[in-house]
Amino acid sequence: MRVGILISGFGSNMIKLLESCEKKSSSASIGLVFSNNPRADGLKYAHSKGIKTVSIDHKDFKERKLFDEKVNKTLLDNNIDFICNAGFMRIHSEDFVNNWFNRHLNIHPSLLPSFKGLDTHKRALDAGVKFAGCTVHLVRAGVDEGPIISQAATSIRSIDNAESLGSKILKLEHKLYPICLQLFAEKLITVSNDKVSYKAEAIKKLEEFKV
Ligand code: GRF
Repeated sequence: MRVGILISGFGSNMIKLLESCEKKSSSASIGLVFSNNPRADGLKYAHSKGIKTVSIDHKDFKERKLFDEKVNKTLLDNNIDFICNAGFMRIHSEDFVNNWFNRHLNIHPSLLPSFKGLDTHKRALDAGVKFAGCTVHLVRAGVDEGPIISQAATSIRSIDNAESLGSKILKLEHKLYPICLQLFAEKLITVSNDKVSYKAEAIKKLEEFKV
């Protein structure tokens, strides 16, 4: 499975996805790292690892749809057949979402469906929830919508602030996302009518995230 990773910034999740795909046992390989932000740090890192990178600034496009068409073409030109958003800060148009239906993952730093959108850690703390975490899900047209593949959770302590919670959750993201990608590549997770099914081996590999 040839994977394209979409980033906008630092790219720490991207690094973890790259590392997991470098393993001999991986059924996925990274064919492209794409960014809407030409200054994204992750681009430099991917380039230094010999991965093809492309950046196209969304600000050069009048309409979201036109930018998305260009992204779609870039992915197809690079023979990408599966995509992972990793800190990609753009909302996709409906056509783009449909083109990559069930072949497109996102990671979000909250336990969805709670706290969609931005500022998740502060909002979780303000709401007084006692657990927080991250979610890997398939991408659908709404922001942070789509069938949940897996989640990882952590307790919120009284001493936590948005920064400490964010770094605990980022560590969980780094573990969870590569596993989910590999499970898709190995076809151990399948999706039909928005229902996610797990082969026994997938359940076993996700066991460590049970609380
Ligand atoms: C992560 O917290 C991810 O869940 C969110 O944006 C952040 C990106 O971080 N969508 P990085 O660029 O992967 O370091």
